Formats: sequence, C-alpha cells, structure tokens
Amino acid sequence: MSASWQLWRDKRGRLSALRIAALVLLLLPLGKALYDAGAIAHGARPLNDLIHRAGFWALTFLGVTLSITPFRRIARYGNLVEVRRMLGVGAFCYIAAHLCLYIADQSYDLGKVAYEITHRWYLIIGGTAWLGLAVLAATSTDGMQRRLGGLRWRRLHQIVYAIVLLALIHYFQQTKADITVPVFAAGLFGWLMAYRALAWWRDTTELSTLALLGLAVTVSALTFAGEAIGIAIAFHVSPLRVLGVAFNIDAGIRPGWQVLAAGLAVAALDFVRVRWNSRSARARTVAAE
Ligand code: HEM
Repeated sequence: MSASWQLWRDKRGRLSALRIAALVLLLLPLGKALYDAGAIAHGARPLNDLIHRAGFWALTFLGVTLSITPFRRIARYGNLVEVRRMLGVGAFCYIAAHLCLYIADQSYDLGKVAYEITHRWYLIIGGTAWLGLAVLAATSTDGMQRRLGGLRWRRLHQIVYAIVLLALIHYFQQTKADITVPVFAAGLFGWLMAYRALAWWRDTTELSTLALLGLAVTVSALTFAGEAIGIAIAFHVSPLRVLGVAFNIDAGIRPGWQVLAAGLAVAALDFVRVRWNSRSARARTVAAE
C-alpha cells in the first residue's frame, strides 16, 4: 500500500508510468507559466494573465477527465480510469488558483469579491461552477465514496456535466473578441455528451466505427451551425453569410473543422483497434489449431 500523497504510485505501492504521465501533464501549465514568468511580469496585467491561464487549464483538464470514459473504451485501455480522479482534482487545484488570483487581483478586498461574484452574470455562473467543483473535490476520497455509497456518489458526480456547461458559458461570456477557442471547446464537449447519450440510448459501452463517424459529422455540423447562429445574433448578420466564411479555408480553419478532425481521429483509432483485435484473434485461432 502506498501513502495517499505518493501520487506516482498505484494502490499496491508500485511506481506507475500512467500516474507519472498524468502528474507531468498536470504540472505542464505550471511549468509553462514559470517559463513565461518574465513576459508575464512585464505584461500589462500579470495577475489577469495568470487568471486566464488557470481558468483555461482548469477547463482543459475537466475536458480530459471527461474524455477518459470514451477513450478507455475505444482504445481498450481500462487502466486509464486509475488517473481520472487525479486529473479531476488537478482541475480543481487550477480552479482554486483561478479564484485566489482573482481575489489577489481585487487587492484582497473580500467584500468587493463577494459583491462582484453575486452581481455579475459571468461571475455568478463561474462561481456556481466553482462551488460544484469544490463539492466534487471534497467528495473525491475513498472514504467519502464509501460513506455516500456507490450509487449516491456516482449520481452526485454526474453534476460534473452541468459544471462544465456552466464553465463554458462563463468562458463565452468573458471572451471579448475571438470566440474560436471557446467554440472549439464547446464542440468537443458536445461530442463527449453525444457519445454518452448515444451509448446510453443504444444500451452499449461499445459504439461501432460507423456510429463514431456519424457522431463526428453530426457534432461538427452542429458546431458550424452553433457558431454561425451565435455570431449572427451578436452582430445582426445572416447566419448563411457567417457559414459562407466558415467554408472559406482562406479565412482560417473554423472550430467546426477542428471538431470534425478530432471526431474523425477517434473513429480512425477505433477502426485500427477493431482490425488489430480481429487480426490477433485470428492469429490466436490459427496457433491453437
Ligand atoms: C468564483 C469563481 C470564478 C471567478 C471569480 C472567475 C473569474 C474569472 C475572471 C475574472 C476571468 C477573466 C475575465 C477578464 O479578463 O475579463 C475568468 C476567465 C476564465 N475563467 Fe473564470 N472565474 C470563476 C470560475 C471559473 C470556473 C469554475 C471555470 C472553469 C472550470 C473558469 C474558467 C475560466 C476560463 C476558461 C476563462 C477564460 C480563460 C482564457 O481567456 O483563456 N472560471 N474567470
């Protein structure tokens, strides 16, 4: 048995390459911020820069956490579940830093912080997501899981979907100009939710390569449509005109294409894995004959 702080060891106390990789991944943004320290310190608003970085990485690690279920099924790599909790708690650490940096940016005036968080919509939404994540982090231990019971614990942790949705809304609300990255993030979240919905509807843990292809195309189309409608409403222009720009590659690669590429990569991974499995099953049969 390993001490719980020895995050690089598995439950039996052995060094775990997977856990070490997850730890390195979680520490990368911190390393990047240290590397950029000079540029950040000389920037116009160093604290605001760090607030943005911490918020972005918290959302990214939440996305990685939600990707574990589809990825371990598609790649047949069940061990991935071992690092899910670490990634989720890591996301919470970044979001805790996000709030602390915000408090520092407000010169530690807690009265002002409380006022802002309860009066500005994007902060009300971010604050609600923050509280939800705090509850998930506090109940993430084995002891809490036992105390709550498996079913209640799982139900409680399903609020993570609503939390990510709120975090995305907060991300959109505070984005002043270029919405490319938030739209891409929303498209990926759409894929993750659609994957779960389809698997639940078909009552299976294994979607076919064809279903994954369909998912990639549908979610990408919805991402194009969502972006076009959003921009059309915000700037009072025709959504068809926005779509026209999206299909003009010279104007840049819009998030709909990026979501399509990600979805197709997943379908390709599934295709290769299925072929690989059937080839090794055939080899085993021949060897047994
Ligand atoms: C009490 C809770 C929160 C506060 C006070 C807060 C505050 C802020 C502030 C002040 C900004 C920058 C806005 C600007 O420069 O105009 C920001 C951006 C952001 N926040 Fe939060 N936030 C909170 C919760 C969250 C949560 C829970 C998440 C995600 C899990 C999140 C993700 C983000 C993201 C992704 C950005 C934009 C980063 C970028 O521009 O790349 N925030 N937040």
